[in-house]
Amino acid sequence: MPTLAPPALPCSHELVLKVIPMPADSNANGDIFGGWVMAQVDLAGAVLPARYVRGRMATVAVKEFVFKQPVRVGDILSFFSHVTRIGRTSITVDVEVYAERMSQQGQYLKVTEAQLTYVAIDAEGRPRPVPVQS
Ligand SMILES: CC(C)(COP(=O)(O)OP(=O)(O)OC[C@H]1O[C@@H](n2cnc3c(N)ncnc32)[C@H](O)[C@@H]1OP(=O)(O)O)[C@@H](O)C(=O)NCCC(=O)NCCS
Repeated sequence: MPTLAPPALPCSHELVLKVIPMPADSNANGDIFGGWVMAQVDLAGAVLPARYVRGRMATVAVKEFVFKQPVRVGDILSFFSHVTRIGRTSITVDVEVYAERMSQQGQYLKVTEAQLTYVAIDAEGRPRPVPVQS
């Protein structure tokens, strides 16, 4: 079976999540509800920061979602992430989302991208320093 590696996919980013939306995730038009995609981006975005934070963390900010293409029931969604900033208590990532249509597998359409910031928090929910990497 040949491996498909389209050049349009972001080589600088790590694949952190793949998911197929279901009919229950759709809006009144029959396409996928944007809020569902945003929730998946939040989950996917947390993967790389979790490696650094090693404990509780919370999403403090999400910068600009733009939906360039609809997401459809049955699309294979791929979420790619890249750490763009490690601060004192926070980590920011860039997440790009690509859809592979059921009828055009192996071809990827970029559907959205966002930058998310996660803060390491202590047991009381207050910011704590991101552990120094050894
Ligand atoms: C996350 C939380 C603990 C941060 O507390 P805070 O008092 O606002 O924290 P600070 O102002 O000290 O900022 C902490 C870090 O977040 C960053 N930050 C704060 N606001 C930010 C924003 N709007 N955009 C990007 N980064 C931001 C700061 O730069 C700082 O990072 P650094 O130390 O690496 O420089 C608090 O805001 C909180 O509990 N928010 C709710 C989180 C939540 O429930 N998320 C789920 C949404 S439903």
